[in-house]
Amino acid sequence: PLVTSKEMFEKAYKGGYAIGAFNVNNMEIIQGITGAAADLKAPVILQVSKGARAYANRTYLMKLVEAAVIDTGLPICLHLDHGDTFELCKSCIDDGFTSVMIDASSKPFAENIALTRQVVEYAHDHGVVVEAELGTLAGIEDEVNVSAEDSSYTRPEEVQEFVEKTGCDSLAIAIGTSHGAYKFKPGTKPQLRFDVLEEVEKKLPGFPIVLHGSSSVPQEFVEKINKFGGNMPGAIGVPENQLRKAASMAVCKINIDSDLRLAMTASIREYLAEHPDHFDPRQYLKPARQAIHDMVAHKIVDVLGCDGK
Ligand code: G3H
Ligand code: 13P
Ligand code: ZN
Repeated sequence: PLVTSKEMFEKAYKGGYAIGAFNVNNMEIIQGITGAAADLKAPVILQVSKGARAYANRTYLMKLVEAAVIDTGLPICLHLDHGDTFELCKSCIDDGFTSVMIDASSKPFAENIALTRQVVEYAHDHGVVVEAELGTLAGIEDEVNVSAEDSSYTRPEEVQEFVEKTGCDSLAIAIGTSHGAYKFKPGTKPQLRFDVLEEVEKKLPGFPIVLHGSSSVPQEFVEKINKFGGNMPGAIGVPENQLRKAASMAVCKINIDSDLRLAMTASIREYLAEHPDHFDPRQYLKPARQAIHDMVAHKIVDVLGCDGK
C-alpha cells in the first residue's frame, strides 16, 4: 500500500538508520528503485518534483507508482519534492500522495511559517504528512538557482519555534549539502556541519530531520560518462561516510536524485558507444534500469542502513 513516512521515521530515528528518498521520472527509474527495495526488504520513499510531474504528467506517475505497489507489495511513501505553493501541495494531496514538502525556505521566517502552516492544516485533514525546510541549500533548487553566497545554514535557535508554530512532521535543514553534481569546489575538502545538526537535534529531540542534496557523485560513474563522450569535469558529491554518520543521528530521510541520473546516463552512454548498431530503446534501457537498481541497493546497504527494516 501507499503509506505515510510517520512509522518509517519513528523506526529509523530509534534504529539509527535513514530512509532513502529517490526522485522518480519514468517507468525504468521506478522499477529500478522499487526492485532494489523489494530485494532488500527496505522501506522506501519515491519523490516527485514539480518538474517530474510536468515531464511525465501527474496521472502517469501516479499510476506507475501504484503499479510498483502492486508488483512489489512494498509499503511505499509517495512524496512531493520541493512543493512551492499551497495549490501544488493540495493537488498532490488530492491525487493520493501520502507526503508533501512545502519548501518556503527562501521566504522570510514568518512567511515560511504561515505557508507551511496552511499546507499542514490541509494535509493533516487528509491524513498526509508534511516536510518543511529552514535554511537554504546552495545550488539548483527546482529551477531557482541559489548561489553559494546566498545559501545559509539552518539556525538551530529557530527550529523549535518553527516546528511548534507550523505543526510540520519533518524538517529539512541546510548543513552544507547542495543539489546537483557539483557540490564542492575541486580541491576543497567536503565537510558537512555536524555541529549544526547536533544543535538542531538538541532543540528537537526525537524529531525527524531531512537531508536534501545527498548524492555522493561516485567518481567511477563520472569517469564512465567522460570516457564515453560526456563532459562533467569537477563533479563532486557528499562523502558516503558523512551520510552514514548523519543517518546514525537525527537524519531519517536522505534525498538522492543526481546519483541515479549519473548511473542511468553512464550506463546508456557505455551501451550505445559499445553497440553503435543497436537502436531498440529496450536494449539500452534494460541495463540502465539495472544500473539504477544496483545504485539504490548500494545506498540501502552501505549508506542508509535500512535493509531488512
Ligand atoms: O531537488 C531537486 C531534485 O533533484 C529534482 O530535480 O526539479 O529537476 O526534477 P528536478
Ligand atoms: P541530489 O542532487 O544531491 O541528488 O539531491 C536530490 C534532492 O535533494 C532532491 O530533493
Ligand atoms: Zn531537494
